[in-house]
Amino acid sequence: MDIFVIQGGRPLQGTVRTAGAKNSCLPMLAAALLTEETLELENVPDLSDVRSMLGILEVLGAKVERSGTSVALRTEPSAQPVAPWDLVRKMRASFEVFGPLLGRRGRAEVSYPGGCSIGVRPVDAHIRGFEALGAIVRTREGYVVAEAPPGGLPGGEAYLATSSGSSVGATRNVMMAAVLARGRSVLSCAACEPEVVDLANCLNAMGAKVHGAGSPTIEIEGVEALHGARHAVVPDRIEAGTYVVAGAITGGRVRVEACRPEHLTALLDALYRAGVGLERGRDWIETQPRDPRERLRPTDITTQPYPGFPTDLQAQWMALMALADGVSVITERIFPDRYMHLAEILRLGARIRRQETAAVVEGVPALSGASIMASDLRASAALVLAGLVAQGQTKVHRVYHIDRGYERIEERLSALGASIWREPDTDSPPL
Ligand code: UD1
Repeated sequence: MDIFVIQGGRPLQGTVRTAGAKNSCLPMLAAALLTEETLELENVPDLSDVRSMLGILEVLGAKVERSGTSVALRTEPSAQPVAPWDLVRKMRASFEVFGPLLGRRGRAEVSYPGGCSIGVRPVDAHIRGFEALGAIVRTREGYVVAEAPPGGLPGGEAYLATSSGSSVGATRNVMMAAVLARGRSVLSCAACEPEVVDLANCLNAMGAKVHGAGSPTIEIEGVEALHGARHAVVPDRIEAGTYVVAGAITGGRVRVEACRPEHLTALLDALYRAGVGLERGRDWIETQPRDPRERLRPTDITTQPYPGFPTDLQAQWMALMALADGVSVITERIFPDRYMHLAEILRLGARIRRQETAAVVEGVPALSGASIMASDLRASAALVLAGLVAQGQTKVHRVYHIDRGYERIEERLSALGASIWREPDTDSPPL
């Protein structure tokens, strides 16, 4: 295991390019299971989650060719439509092979993904969706097993609401099952996230008939077969947002390029309210330098489904508000227990208390470096951001979490002038 060592206190300056979105590309790789022709994806980030997904797809019969940021996949239909626990447990998104397997093969057997450090994370909405399309679904020995009637899924009306609104994963999974159904399907209470739209665009490039993605009602006209296609993955709004917060927290001038500012409206609005100077163009955002003595205004946020403030930027916002000039309230409406980072930020001298599903952040004038432990992907990004401004040295342990979703973050931050490097961990007890 590696750690990051960060010497805090340097304002960042320079340009960073956004990679393709992890959350878009993972289900899109699974969409290759829907055709026997080649699906070629461009702008695929080099992440451990992508490698995990490719490993699962190989078990399911995909031949994978990777060259730079392009990945070409072709699937032999002969392999068993079974995704085992030892692969699925590594990454929840691997449950999204279910829809393509069920849609094309008429049968899927995928290990129940279980919870993770950000909360319980059920899959009931996925299952209700598959049932609404006409599948018989049951749970057996830790696996979700679904079968379509002879001749394939008929299609149907799926209501995908969850306790927090909608489900990104269920919307994509059920959408992928529906594209090859015999009839028409309607998904209501569908998630509107850009990653859902990107997947629908990719499926349509493969010959699917998906309409309305990006709105709460998606209509899908089933087609007999999909063909090969080439598609470029949308830029990662969470990665871009994290670098924008890195500029804001250090008071530096950071220009984030190759991003889609319109996908970050909620974050940009919160940054304006906090007093961060920003400029933006069609595909870039730049933070304006700030005197380090000038503290930001405390600013409340509530995480919500898109276009609300993303839960995947909640931890980063907490790091920023830890230094604001007053009290801000962060309310988590998507994953109510997603506060593993709170205790670690406290170790840097922050004043934050949890109040049910909210965190009350009392800004302090400065943080001071310490050894802290990453617990999940976005939490680790927040700890790195806090380390960039903490006085002295911060060591972030278990950074394999961050490698799941950020391409070589330490190299990108170093290129912006941060003092951060990776070292083997000699202190942590084994997991
Ligand atoms: C995706 C993202 C993740 C992000 C999350 C919310 C990927 C690979 N991951 O995760 O980074 O944090 O969206 O934006 O794209 N729920 C149910 N039943 C279900 C499914 C979900 O109750 O069957 C609930 C969840 O517990 C949660 C909410 O719905 O409260 C949203 O979860 P969901 O959108 O499904 O998250 P993921 O797709 O797993």
